[in-house]
Amino acid sequence: MSAMDGTSAVRTAVVGLGYWGPNLVRNLHEVPGAEAAWVCDLREDALAAITRRYPAVRSTTSFEEVLADESLDAVIIATPVSRHYPMAAAALRAGKHVFVEKPLAGSAVEAADLIDLAQSEGLVLMPGHTFLYSPPVLMIKSLIESGELGEIYFISTSRVNLGLHQPDVSVAWDLGPHDFSILRYWLGETPRYASALSRGCIIPSIPDVAFINLEFPSGTVAHVELSWLAPSKLRRTTIVGSRKMVVYDDTSSEPVRVFDSGAVLPNPETFGEYNLTYRTGDIVSPQIQASEPLFLELEDFCAAIRLQTIPRSSSELGLDVVRMIEAVDASLESDGARTEIGLRSSTLV
Ligand SMILES: NC(=O)c1ccc[n+]([C@@H]2O[C@H](COP(=O)([O-])OP(=O)(O)OC[C@H]3O[C@@H](n4cnc5c(N)ncnc54)[C@H](O)[C@@H]3O)[C@@H](O)[C@H]2O)c1
Repeated sequence: MSAMDGTSAVRTAVVGLGYWGPNLVRNLHEVPGAEAAWVCDLREDALAAITRRYPAVRSTTSFEEVLADESLDAVIIATPVSRHYPMAAAALRAGKHVFVEKPLAGSAVEAADLIDLAQSEGLVLMPGHTFLYSPPVLMIKSLIESGELGEIYFISTSRVNLGLHQPDVSVAWDLGPHDFSILRYWLGETPRYASALSRGCIIPSIPDVAFINLEFPSGTVAHVELSWLAPSKLRRTTIVGSRKMVVYDDTSSEPVRVFDSGAVLPNPETFGEYNLTYRTGDIVSPQIQASEPLFLELEDFCAAIRLQTIPRSSSELGLDVVRMIEAVDASLESDGARTEIGLRSSTLV
């Protein structure tokens, strides 16, 4: 690892140039103080497509060649989930800062091991939870934190569309990290229990639809619906608070709408007489700045390396997300049983 003095560019390699990796390369070129030095993929055609566009970037099919470059500061990993742990561990052992696409690793034990490794080497380890850099998600975080929504009663979310079926992971491992990271960030807590129902409709061994319930220590409950099998794309979250409610629709030109709506029980003793008041007031659609989350995410990664800050998408948050997915798997294995989300384990077995 080269010493970072706060002014030199962060020399970076992007590994894995499939569906997602090229977006990382493109954004890396926009981040001030970052240099896309290498790209790496097993497929020559994927490398050629990038070097045609960015001729100054070195390319290789060998991850070892990337790690052997002593002037390289950081590695960005966008390979399939099963490769996250071995590649991130090798990069950390080679003294490189690591950004690894979501989920951080294929198990909580592996994720915890990466965290320990990064800590012992004094290196940044950041999972790619892109939605934590999405302006609508940040807007809702500030609405929750300011108390404008009141107590958060429940959150219900749908992330469904047609495709892309993944060959190696279930829909919970593929799409779950988005909602799990958003919920963990918004609420500032990890759920205590998960229960799930799922089915592999097209490939029986790979669940392509999941209905997941989460219970948070504060009392908030959440329902997460995930699927690669749906007639139209939905990215819709409803947040119901004691004071206001929010609909977040990531496919809409007005992604956040705040409803001054609610129900009040003025005198709990008279509930038997159904003396409830419903309130439907203004609907406000706050203006939201347009900026690309991936750019902001990579900027945060470079800042963490240069300034030794903890990125918003922290490795501890990444570990919690993996623990949530593992609890979903454990629930599925026991017929949807309510499953406790385990504590951190730091030994690799
Ligand atoms: N943050 C987001 O919103 C987001 C969106 C999509 C995907 N992702 C994540 O990005 C990662 C990649 O997903 P994808 O859909 O691009 O997968 P993909 O299968 O399309 O691409 C993976 C690429 O990695 C390459 N690869 C595999 N093993 C390699 C090795 N040992 N050395 C070098 N290259 C290797 C493959 O050749 C392939 O080109 C996954 O972790 C996924 O969860 C994140």
